[in-house]
Amino acid sequence: MQVLSTVREMRAACGAVCKNGQSLGLVPTMGALHAGHISLMRAARTQCDVVAASIFVNPKQFGPNEDFAKYPRTFEQDCALLEAEGVALVFAPQPEEMYPAGASTLVEVEGVGDRLDGASRPGHFRGVATVVAKLFHIVAPNKAFFGQKDAAQVAVLHSMVRDLNFDLELVVCPTVREPDGLALSSRNRYLSVPDRARALVLSRALDVISANYRAGEKDVARLLEAGHSVMATEPEVRIDYLEIVDAATLLPLREAAAGALVAVAAYVGNTRLIDNTIL
Ligand code: PAJ
Repeated sequence: MQVLSTVREMRAACGAVCKNGQSLGLVPTMGALHAGHISLMRAARTQCDVVAASIFVNPKQFGPNEDFAKYPRTFEQDCALLEAEGVALVFAPQPEEMYPAGASTLVEVEGVGDRLDGASRPGHFRGVATVVAKLFHIVAPNKAFFGQKDAAQVAVLHSMVRDLNFDLELVVCPTVREPDGLALSSRNRYLSVPDRARALVLSRALDVISANYRAGEKDVARLLEAGHSVMATEPEVRIDYLEIVDAATLLPLREAAAGALVAVAAYVGNTRLIDNTIL
C-alpha cells in the first residue's frame, strides 16, 4: 500500500493504474475509520481492480463552531485497516496541499445543497462538493463509493457529477449499523454511555415511520407526527430536522411514495447525529 501526501504523487500513481488498463475505485473519507467505511472499501474491491482511499479532514466543510479541531484523527490505525482491506493507494494530504494560499474556487450545488444538512450547516455542502470535485480531478476514478448514511451528501454529489460532467459512476452503499440499530459514525465515539443509549431514538423513529408507511399511511404529516412521538420519548435529544423528502431534490413531500427519503438529524448531548431510511 502506498501512502501519498501530495497532489502530484497521487495523480501520478492513479495515472499509472489507468495506463495499465486497470479500473480504479475511489473511497473518500475523513478517517477515524469504522465498519461503515470498510464496507465501502469492500464494495470498491469487488467492483474495481485497484482501490484508492483518501483520508482528509476537510476544513471547508466544517462551520466556525463545529468540531473540526476535535474531529477524531486515528491515522496509523486507519492505514492498518486499509492495508488489511487490500487498498492500494491512500491519499492523505495536509490542508495546505489541498487549499494552498490563494485558492479561491468553490463548488456550490444550489438548491439541493441548501436543504437538510445544507440548511442547518450553511456552507457545509459547498465544502463537501469542493473537496470531492478536487479528489475526482486528482484521482480520476472510474467509480467513487459513498454511504447512504449521508443521504443528502449523496443527492448533492449526484447533482454535481451530472452538472459538471464528471465521467465516473457514483456507487451508493447501504448504511452499516450496530446490532441495536445505531448507524455507525465517526462521531459516535463522542457519546457518553447514557447518550449512546439515547441515540437509539433516531433509528427507532425511522423504523416507526417505515412501519406506518408499510401499513398504508401515506400522509407525510401523520407519518412525521408518529416519528416525532418516538423522538419525544427522549426529551434530552434535540431534533434538528425530521423530514420526508424526494431523495434526489431533497424537497419536502406531502404524500409519501416508494423511494422517498426519511431523514433525521438530532443533537444527543453536544453530538449531532444523522440517520435516514428510504421508504
Ligand atoms: P466520512 O464521514 O468519513 O464518511 C466517508 C464515507 O463513509 C461517506 O461516503 C459516508 O457516507 C460513509 N459512511 C459513514 N458512515 C457510514 C455507515 N454507517 N454506513 C455506510 N457508510 C458510511 O462523508 C465524509 O466523510 C466527507 O463528507 C467526505 C465525502 C469524505 C468529503 O470530505
